[in-house]
Amino acid sequence: MQRWIVAIDGPAGAGKSTVARLLADRLGYVYLDSGAMYRCVALLALRSGTEPEESTALAEAAQITFDPAGIGEPQRVLLGGEDVSQAIRTPEVSQMASKVAAVPRVRKALVKLQQALGAQGGVVMEGRDIGTVVFPQAELKIFLTASPEERARRRHAELEARGEVFDYARVLAELKERDERDETREASPLRAAPDALTFLTDGRTIEQIVVELAGKVEA
Ligand code: DC
Repeated sequence: MQRWIVAIDGPAGAGKSTVARLLADRLGYVYLDSGAMYRCVALLALRSGTEPEESTALAEAAQITFDPAGIGEPQRVLLGGEDVSQAIRTPEVSQMASKVAAVPRVRKALVKLQQALGAQGGVVMEGRDIGTVVFPQAELKIFLTASPEERARRRHAELEARGEVFDYARVLAELKERDERDETREASPLRAAPDALTFLTDGRTIEQIVVELAGKVEA
């Protein structure tokens, strides 16, 4: 059986992570979260007081691993062996991640790692440039998106579920700021590959989308 590369791109809060993880489980594929890698570099920059533009060396030296890297298990993100799964999900890291992600040499280092991890196929990789840059040859490319308000509502609920209190207006404003930076940067801006299938997730359940996508791979 052929093992595909499935690329899932789209803006923050479109439901990419949930869809990608469930799709990977359903197909028996490995799930890879490329955004977590940019977040790891952001965390290193914040901890060391490094400016985003100066973070190339951090990206090149970062020891980022996923544990377990297997199928259908909850994944932890390890940075130099330290479990940073929670630490990389703060709003500060989110903002810094979108800044380090605008640095071409940071992207180059992380894209190389992503290509090595996905080369064998049998992966669902989510990010912003997976279908355009990392795996332009991916057998299935999905661009998942939703309105900014819907995405901010989801992000807000996610933060609340973790016991963190943030104003919805602040979440929406930060999300729009991040979208703007991700879409307008010169290096690999967020955009759908010409041959990607675009899904608007407003008002659709994650399950509906996962079933539809799995059908495309299994067909
Ligand atoms: O998906 P996320 O929110 O965890 O991503 C964090 C940041 O990294 C986000 O601002 C976009 C950036 N990113 C990117 O530029 N390219 C990717 N393939 C994945 C994430």
